[in-house]
Amino acid sequence: MARIAIDHIAIVVSDMEAALGFWQGALGLELQRIESIAAEEVEVAFLETDNAHIELLLPTGDDSGIARYLASKGGGMHHICLAVADIEAAMQRLDDAGIELINERPRQREDGTRYAFVHPKSSGGVLVELYQKT
Ligand code: CO
Repeated sequence: MARIAIDHIAIVVSDMEAALGFWQGALGLELQRIESIAAEEVEVAFLETDNAHIELLLPTGDDSGIARYLASKGGGMHHICLAVADIEAAMQRLDDAGIELINERPRQREDGTRYAFVHPKSSGGVLVELYQKT
């Protein structure tokens, strides 16, 4: 079976400066970049660890999924992202196992990364994102 790696762990924050104060300042993780993703109404800070990165997600509007998550649950762990070699094969495998996917087909980011989410009700409450990088 193809190897699966953790690509990133995503954390919802209500205050980017305070969050960076912990992850970058106190813990010492390297901040790679901060990116505003207008289409998703979110600002993302990418912090590097040796083998994966941590994404801090700050909603920039009131209406996005991340904003609603923050309003209802507060800040904290949002999802874990696993990088697979073949996202269609991974999604088929999950579908065959009766797992509910949020996205029926992979979606694509500007950099070409294809992604899809597994519904947390099929995964014991953990939102799982799948990535296939170019
Ligand atoms: Co993600």
